[in-house]
Amino acid sequence: MNTAQFIPEILTENIEKANFTWQTPSNIALVKYWGKSNPQMPKNASISFTLNNCHTITTIAFSKIERTAEVKFDLFFEGKEKEEFKPKIAEFFKRVQEYCPYIFNYKMTINSENSFPHSSGIASSASGLSAIAMCLMSLENELNPSITQEFINKKASFLARLGSGSASRSIEGPLVVWGNHPEIAESSDLFGVQFPYKVHSVFKNYQDAILLVDKGEKVVSSTVGHNLMHNHPYAESRFTQANDNLGKISEILQNGDLEAFVSLVESEALTLHAMMMTSNPYFILMKPNTLEIINKIWKYRAENKSNICFTLDAGANVHVLYPENEKDSVNNFIENELANYCQNKQFIYDSVGFGAKKI
Ligand code: DP6
Repeated sequence: MNTAQFIPEILTENIEKANFTWQTPSNIALVKYWGKSNPQMPKNASISFTLNNCHTITTIAFSKIERTAEVKFDLFFEGKEKEEFKPKIAEFFKRVQEYCPYIFNYKMTINSENSFPHSSGIASSASGLSAIAMCLMSLENELNPSITQEFINKKASFLARLGSGSASRSIEGPLVVWGNHPEIAESSDLFGVQFPYKVHSVFKNYQDAILLVDKGEKVVSSTVGHNLMHNHPYAESRFTQANDNLGKISEILQNGDLEAFVSLVESEALTLHAMMMTSNPYFILMKPNTLEIINKIWKYRAENKSNICFTLDAGANVHVLYPENEKDSVNNFIENELANYCQNKQFIYDSVGFGAKKI
Protein backbone atom coordinates (compact mmCIF):
# COMPACT_ATOMS: atom_id res chain seq x y z
CA MET A 1 0.00 0.00 0.00
CA ASN A 2 1.74 3.15 -1.15
CA THR A 3 1.07 5.79 1.49
CA ALA A 4 4.53 7.37 1.01
CA GLN A 5 3.18 9.11 -2.12
CA PHE A 6 1.20 11.36 0.25
CA ILE A 7 4.18 12.57 2.29
CA PRO A 8 5.27 15.87 0.76
CA GLU A 9 8.95 15.95 -0.16
CA ILE A 10 9.34 19.52 -1.28
CA LEU A 11 7.50 22.60 -0.19
CA THR A 12 9.09 25.40 -2.17
CA GLU A 13 6.99 28.40 -1.18
CA ASN A 14 6.81 30.41 2.02
CA ILE A 15 3.23 31.36 2.86
CA GLU A 16 2.61 33.65 5.84
CA LYS A 17 -1.18 33.87 5.67
CA ALA A 18 -3.80 32.11 3.61
CA ASN A 19 -7.55 31.67 3.63
CA PHE A 20 -9.52 28.98 1.80
CA THR A 21 -13.20 28.14 1.63
CA TRP A 22 -14.59 24.84 0.37
CA GLN A 23 -18.10 23.49 -0.02
CA THR A 24 -18.15 19.70 0.12
CA PRO A 25 -21.11 17.36 -0.07
CA SER A 26 -22.60 14.58 1.94
CA ASN A 27 -23.00 11.22 0.19
CA ILE A 28 -25.33 8.24 0.39
CA ALA A 29 -23.92 4.74 0.05
CA LEU A 30 -25.62 2.23 -2.26
CA VAL A 31 -23.29 -0.60 -1.24
CA LYS A 32 -22.41 0.02 2.38
CA TYR A 33 -19.13 0.30 4.26
CA TRP A 34 -19.60 -1.40 7.62
CA GLY A 35 -16.50 -2.87 9.21
CA LYS A 36 -12.93 -1.58 9.18
CA SER A 37 -9.41 -2.26 10.43
CA ASN A 38 -6.69 0.17 11.43
CA PRO A 39 -5.94 2.77 10.13
CA GLN A 40 -9.39 3.35 8.65
CA MET A 41 -9.10 0.51 6.13
CA PRO A 42 -12.47 -0.77 4.88
CA LYS A 43 -13.33 -4.46 5.12
CA ASN A 44 -15.17 -4.23 1.81
CA ALA A 45 -15.53 -1.84 -1.09
CA SER A 46 -18.46 0.63 -1.07
CA ILE A 47 -20.06 2.99 -3.58
CA SER A 48 -22.12 6.12 -3.06
CA PHE A 49 -24.03 8.82 -4.85
CA THR A 50 -22.54 12.20 -4.07
CA LEU A 51 -25.28 14.58 -2.96
CA ASN A 52 -25.88 18.11 -4.17
CA ASN A 53 -27.81 20.08 -1.55
CA CYS A 54 -26.58 18.56 1.71
CA HIS A 55 -23.15 20.04 2.20
CA THR A 56 -20.71 21.71 4.56
CA ILE A 57 -19.00 25.02 3.88
CA THR A 58 -15.71 25.42 5.71
CA THR A 59 -13.19 28.24 5.74
CA ILE A 60 -9.75 27.78 7.24
CA ALA A 61 -7.59 30.83 7.90
CA PHE A 62 -3.93 29.82 8.21
CA SER A 63 -1.53 32.12 9.98
CA LYS A 64 2.17 31.23 10.22
CA ILE A 65 3.63 30.73 13.70
CA GLU A 66 6.81 29.26 15.25
CA ARG A 67 6.65 25.52 14.63
CA THR A 68 4.93 23.93 17.62
CA ALA A 69 4.78 20.42 19.08
CA GLU A 70 1.02 20.25 18.81
CA VAL A 71 -1.40 21.42 16.18
CA LYS A 72 -3.02 24.76 17.05
CA PHE A 73 -6.56 25.55 15.94
CA ASP A 74 -9.77 27.31 16.90
CA LEU A 75 -13.09 25.92 15.78
CA PHE A 76 -16.30 27.81 15.09
CA PHE A 77 -19.51 26.13 14.00
CA GLU A 78 -22.24 28.38 12.64
CA GLY A 79 -20.41 31.36 14.07
CA LYS A 80 -20.01 30.02 17.60
CA GLU A 81 -16.91 28.53 19.18
CA LYS A 82 -17.50 24.78 19.60
CA GLU A 83 -15.23 23.21 22.21
CA GLU A 84 -17.20 19.94 22.07
CA PHE A 85 -16.37 19.37 18.37
CA LYS A 86 -12.63 19.95 18.96
CA PRO A 87 -11.53 16.47 20.11
CA LYS A 88 -12.72 14.84 16.85
CA ILE A 89 -10.89 17.45 14.77
CA ALA A 90 -7.75 17.22 16.98
CA GLU A 91 -7.79 13.44 16.42
CA PHE A 92 -8.14 14.04 12.67
CA PHE A 93 -5.09 16.35 12.67
CA LYS A 94 -3.15 13.72 14.61
CA ARG A 95 -3.98 11.10 11.98
CA VAL A 96 -2.96 13.34 9.07
CA GLN A 97 0.07 15.09 10.57
CA GLU A 98 2.53 12.66 8.98
CA TYR A 99 1.10 13.55 5.56
CA CYS A 100 0.63 17.26 6.25
CA PRO A 101 3.65 18.18 8.44
CA TYR A 102 3.15 21.84 7.50
CA ILE A 103 0.12 22.09 9.82
CA PHE A 104 2.52 22.50 12.76
CA ASN A 105 3.69 25.80 11.21
CA TYR A 106 0.28 27.44 11.31
CA LYS A 107 -2.43 28.55 13.64
CA MET A 108 -5.68 27.51 11.99
CA THR A 109 -9.04 29.17 12.48
CA ILE A 110 -11.78 26.91 11.21
CA ASN A 111 -15.28 28.21 10.47
CA SER A 112 -17.83 25.66 9.43
CA GLU A 113 -21.54 25.49 8.64
CA ASN A 114 -23.88 22.85 7.23
CA SER A 115 -26.71 23.34 4.75
CA PHE A 116 -28.78 20.88 6.81
CA PRO A 117 -29.76 21.22 10.48
CA HIS A 118 -27.05 19.85 12.76
CA SER A 119 -29.52 17.78 14.74
CA SER A 120 -31.17 16.29 11.63
CA GLY A 121 -29.52 12.90 12.06
CA ILE A 122 -27.70 13.51 8.76
CA ALA A 123 -24.08 12.61 9.37
CA SER A 124 -21.95 15.69 8.96
CA SER A 125 -18.63 13.85 9.33
CA ALA A 126 -18.39 13.04 5.60
CA SER A 127 -18.98 16.59 4.38
CA GLY A 128 -17.24 18.19 7.38
CA LEU A 129 -13.99 16.25 7.16
CA SER A 130 -13.79 16.37 3.37
CA ALA A 131 -14.09 20.17 3.57
CA ILE A 132 -11.17 20.39 6.02
CA ALA A 133 -9.17 18.02 3.82
CA MET A 134 -9.75 20.25 0.77
CA CYS A 135 -8.65 23.35 2.74
CA LEU A 136 -5.43 21.54 3.78
CA MET A 137 -4.81 20.59 0.15
CA SER A 138 -5.32 24.20 -0.97
CA LEU A 139 -2.60 25.23 1.48
CA GLU A 140 -0.36 22.38 0.28
CA ASN A 141 -0.91 23.53 -3.29
CA GLU A 142 0.29 27.03 -2.40
CA LEU A 143 3.32 25.58 -0.62
CA ASN A 144 4.04 23.31 -3.58
CA PRO A 145 2.46 24.67 -6.79
CA SER A 146 3.73 21.69 -8.81
CA ILE A 147 1.05 19.26 -7.57
CA THR A 148 -1.75 18.39 -10.00
CA GLN A 149 -5.51 18.65 -9.52
CA GLU A 150 -5.72 14.88 -9.79
CA PHE A 151 -3.24 14.46 -6.93
CA ILE A 152 -5.04 17.11 -4.87
CA ASN A 153 -8.35 15.22 -5.10
CA LYS A 154 -6.74 11.85 -4.43
CA LYS A 155 -4.84 13.09 -1.39
CA ALA A 156 -7.87 15.03 -0.10
CA SER A 157 -9.87 11.80 -0.24
CA PHE A 158 -7.01 9.94 1.47
CA LEU A 159 -6.88 12.55 4.28
CA ALA A 160 -10.67 12.68 4.66
CA ARG A 161 -10.76 8.88 4.96
CA LEU A 162 -8.41 9.06 7.94
CA GLY A 163 -11.02 11.24 9.66
CA SER A 164 -14.11 9.26 8.63
CA GLY A 165 -14.26 6.43 6.12
CA SER A 166 -17.30 7.67 4.23
CA ALA A 167 -15.69 11.15 3.93
CA SER A 168 -13.31 9.66 1.35
CA ARG A 169 -16.34 9.49 -0.97
CA SER A 170 -17.21 13.19 -0.56
CA ILE A 171 -14.59 14.85 -2.76
CA GLU A 172 -15.83 13.91 -6.22
CA GLY A 173 -19.08 12.79 -7.87
CA PRO A 174 -21.54 11.67 -9.09
CA LEU A 175 -20.59 8.11 -8.04
CA VAL A 176 -17.54 7.26 -5.95
CA VAL A 177 -16.07 3.87 -5.07
CA TRP A 178 -13.90 3.47 -1.98
CA GLY A 179 -12.13 0.18 -1.34
CA ASN A 180 -10.04 -2.08 -3.50
CA HIS A 181 -12.23 -4.06 -5.90
CA PRO A 182 -11.09 -6.25 -8.81
CA GLU A 183 -13.79 -4.93 -11.16
CA ILE A 184 -13.20 -1.23 -10.49
CA ALA A 185 -10.09 0.09 -12.19
CA GLU A 186 -7.76 2.11 -9.92
CA SER A 187 -9.88 1.44 -6.83
CA SER A 188 -8.09 1.55 -3.50
CA ASP A 189 -8.58 1.07 0.22
CA LEU A 190 -6.70 4.34 0.71
CA PHE A 191 -8.98 6.78 -1.13
CA GLY A 192 -12.16 7.06 -3.16
CA VAL A 193 -12.17 7.06 -6.97
CA GLN A 194 -14.84 8.21 -9.38
CA PHE A 195 -16.84 5.30 -10.77
CA PRO A 196 -14.75 4.71 -13.89
CA TYR A 197 -17.35 3.43 -16.40
CA LYS A 198 -20.06 5.11 -18.46
CA VAL A 199 -23.22 5.40 -16.37
CA HIS A 200 -26.64 4.78 -17.98
CA SER A 201 -28.68 7.95 -18.58
CA VAL A 202 -31.48 6.76 -16.24
CA PHE A 203 -29.16 7.52 -13.30
CA LYS A 204 -28.55 11.09 -14.46
CA ASN A 205 -29.78 13.57 -11.87
CA TYR A 206 -31.11 10.73 -9.68
CA GLN A 207 -33.24 12.04 -6.82
CA ASP A 208 -32.74 11.46 -3.09
CA ALA A 209 -35.34 12.77 -0.66
CA ILE A 210 -34.10 12.45 2.92
CA LEU A 211 -36.96 11.82 5.33
CA LEU A 212 -36.05 13.00 8.82
CA VAL A 213 -37.67 10.33 10.95
CA ASP A 214 -35.65 10.89 14.08
CA LYS A 215 -33.40 13.81 14.71
CA GLY A 216 -32.07 12.70 18.08
CA GLU A 217 -28.57 11.52 18.92
CA LYS A 218 -27.88 8.01 17.69
CA VAL A 219 -27.83 5.35 20.42
CA VAL A 220 -24.69 3.80 18.90
CA SER A 221 -22.15 5.75 16.84
CA SER A 222 -20.90 4.47 13.48
CA THR A 223 -17.44 3.97 14.92
CA VAL A 224 -18.75 1.69 17.66
CA GLY A 225 -20.91 -0.12 15.10
CA HIS A 226 -17.93 -0.73 12.80
CA ASN A 227 -15.98 -2.18 15.71
CA LEU A 228 -18.77 -4.61 16.52
CA MET A 229 -18.08 -6.27 13.16
CA HIS A 230 -14.80 -7.62 14.61
CA ASN A 231 -16.30 -10.58 16.40
CA HIS A 232 -19.48 -10.70 14.42
CA PRO A 233 -20.65 -14.19 13.42
CA TYR A 234 -21.71 -13.07 9.93
CA ALA A 235 -18.90 -10.60 9.25
CA GLU A 236 -16.92 -12.57 6.68
CA SER A 237 -19.95 -13.49 4.60
CA ARG A 238 -21.16 -9.89 4.79
CA PHE A 239 -17.83 -8.57 3.43
CA THR A 240 -17.95 -11.12 0.60
CA GLN A 241 -21.57 -10.21 -0.16
CA ALA A 242 -20.79 -6.47 -0.23
CA ASN A 243 -17.93 -7.01 -2.69
CA ASP A 244 -20.18 -9.22 -4.86
CA ASN A 245 -22.85 -6.51 -4.74
CA LEU A 246 -20.32 -3.92 -5.82
CA GLY A 247 -19.54 -6.00 -8.91
CA LYS A 248 -23.28 -6.33 -9.59
CA ILE A 249 -24.09 -2.65 -9.13
CA SER A 250 -21.24 -1.74 -11.44
CA GLU A 251 -23.06 -3.68 -14.21
CA ILE A 252 -26.43 -2.20 -13.23
CA LEU A 253 -25.12 1.37 -13.31
CA GLN A 254 -23.90 0.74 -16.84
CA ASN A 255 -26.92 -1.15 -18.22
CA GLY A 256 -29.67 0.88 -16.45
CA ASP A 257 -31.58 -2.14 -15.06
CA LEU A 258 -33.67 -0.27 -12.49
CA GLU A 259 -35.43 -3.35 -11.17
CA ALA A 260 -32.09 -4.89 -10.26
CA PHE A 261 -30.94 -1.53 -8.82
CA VAL A 262 -33.97 -1.33 -6.51
CA SER A 263 -33.54 -4.84 -5.14
CA LEU A 264 -29.79 -4.55 -4.62
CA VAL A 265 -29.95 -1.13 -2.92
CA GLU A 266 -32.78 -2.10 -0.57
CA SER A 267 -31.10 -5.38 0.29
CA GLU A 268 -27.88 -3.50 1.16
CA ALA A 269 -29.79 -1.15 3.48
CA LEU A 270 -31.59 -3.95 5.29
CA THR A 271 -28.42 -6.05 5.54
CA LEU A 272 -26.59 -3.13 7.14
CA HIS A 273 -29.27 -2.93 9.81
CA ALA A 274 -29.36 -6.72 10.12
CA MET A 275 -25.65 -6.56 10.99
CA MET A 276 -26.47 -4.12 13.78
CA MET A 277 -29.27 -6.31 15.09
CA THR A 278 -27.04 -9.40 15.10
CA SER A 279 -23.93 -7.88 16.68
CA ASN A 280 -22.98 -8.36 20.30
CA PRO A 281 -24.21 -6.18 21.94
CA TYR A 282 -27.09 -5.86 19.46
CA PHE A 283 -28.82 -2.61 18.72
CA ILE A 284 -31.58 -1.14 16.55
CA LEU A 285 -31.34 2.27 14.89
CA MET A 286 -34.58 2.07 12.92
CA LYS A 287 -37.72 3.56 14.49
CA PRO A 288 -41.33 2.48 14.01
CA ASN A 289 -41.78 5.20 11.40
CA THR A 290 -38.77 3.93 9.45
CA LEU A 291 -40.69 0.69 8.93
CA GLU A 292 -43.96 2.50 8.19
CA ILE A 293 -42.20 4.44 5.44
CA ILE A 294 -40.56 1.32 3.99
CA ASN A 295 -43.94 -0.40 3.77
CA LYS A 296 -45.53 2.66 2.16
CA ILE A 297 -42.74 2.79 -0.42
CA TRP A 298 -43.25 -0.90 -1.27
CA LYS A 299 -47.00 -0.36 -1.66
CA TYR A 300 -46.52 2.74 -3.81
CA ARG A 301 -44.00 0.91 -6.00
CA ALA A 302 -46.34 -2.02 -6.59
CA GLU A 303 -49.40 0.13 -7.27
CA ASN A 304 -47.70 2.62 -9.56
CA LYS A 305 -45.17 0.40 -11.31
CA SER A 306 -42.65 2.86 -9.95
CA ASN A 307 -38.88 2.50 -9.54
CA ILE A 308 -38.87 4.27 -6.18
CA CYS A 309 -36.73 2.60 -3.52
CA PHE A 310 -35.19 3.36 -0.15
CA THR A 311 -31.84 3.16 1.50
CA LEU A 312 -30.74 3.79 5.08
CA ASP A 313 -27.52 4.92 6.66
CA ALA A 314 -26.60 4.33 10.28
CA GLY A 315 -29.74 5.92 11.66
CA ALA A 316 -33.53 6.04 11.47
CA ASN A 317 -33.84 8.46 8.54
CA VAL A 318 -34.91 7.11 5.17
CA HIS A 319 -33.32 8.11 1.87
CA VAL A 320 -35.90 7.78 -0.90
CA LEU A 321 -34.24 7.23 -4.27
CA TYR A 322 -36.00 7.68 -7.64
CA PRO A 323 -35.24 8.58 -11.24
CA GLU A 324 -35.74 12.17 -12.38
CA ASN A 325 -38.68 11.25 -14.65
CA GLU A 326 -40.70 10.23 -11.56
CA LYS A 327 -39.92 13.43 -9.69
CA ASP A 328 -43.37 15.07 -9.84
CA SER A 329 -45.36 11.98 -8.85
CA VAL A 330 -42.97 10.81 -6.12
CA ASN A 331 -42.62 14.29 -4.65
CA ASN A 332 -46.42 14.41 -4.35
CA PHE A 333 -46.37 11.04 -2.60
CA ILE A 334 -43.68 12.26 -0.21
CA GLU A 335 -45.48 15.50 0.61
CA ASN A 336 -48.94 13.95 0.98
CA GLU A 337 -48.09 10.64 2.64
CA LEU A 338 -44.52 10.04 3.75
CA ALA A 339 -44.05 13.44 5.39
CA ASN A 340 -46.61 12.36 8.00
CA TYR A 341 -44.06 9.88 9.36
CA CYS A 342 -41.26 12.45 9.66
CA GLN A 343 -40.43 14.41 12.78
CA ASN A 344 -42.21 17.76 12.38
CA LYS A 345 -43.01 16.60 8.80
CA GLN A 346 -39.45 17.49 7.84
CA PHE A 347 -37.62 16.15 4.80
CA ILE A 348 -34.94 17.42 2.42
CA TYR A 349 -35.03 17.14 -1.36
CA ASP A 350 -31.64 16.35 -2.78
CA SER A 351 -30.20 14.87 -5.95
CA VAL A 352 -26.91 13.57 -7.24
CA GLY A 353 -24.08 16.10 -7.24
CA PHE A 354 -20.56 16.49 -8.51
CA GLY A 355 -18.33 16.99 -5.49
CA ALA A 356 -16.24 19.62 -3.77
CA LYS A 357 -16.39 23.26 -4.88
CA LYS A 358 -13.97 26.03 -4.03
CA ILE A 359 -15.78 29.18 -2.98
C1 DP6 B 1 -23.61 3.18 7.46
O1 DP6 B 1 -17.83 6.76 7.68
O2 DP6 B 1 -19.42 7.36 9.56
O3 DP6 B 1 -23.05 5.30 6.56
O4 DP6 B 1 -15.15 5.68 9.43
O5 DP6 B 1 -16.00 5.39 11.76
O6 DP6 B 1 -16.20 7.61 10.62
P1 DP6 B 1 -16.17 6.11 10.47
O7 DP6 B 1 -17.61 5.68 9.96
P2 DP6 B 1 -18.57 6.34 8.90
O8 DP6 B 1 -19.49 5.07 8.54
C2 DP6 B 1 -20.50 5.17 7.59
C3 DP6 B 1 -21.31 3.97 7.60
C4 DP6 B 1 -22.55 3.99 6.74
C5 DP6 B 1 -22.32 3.33 5.39
C6 DP6 B 1 -21.56 4.10 4.36
O9 DP6 B 1 -21.62 5.33 4.32
O10 DP6 B 1 -20.93 3.41 3.52
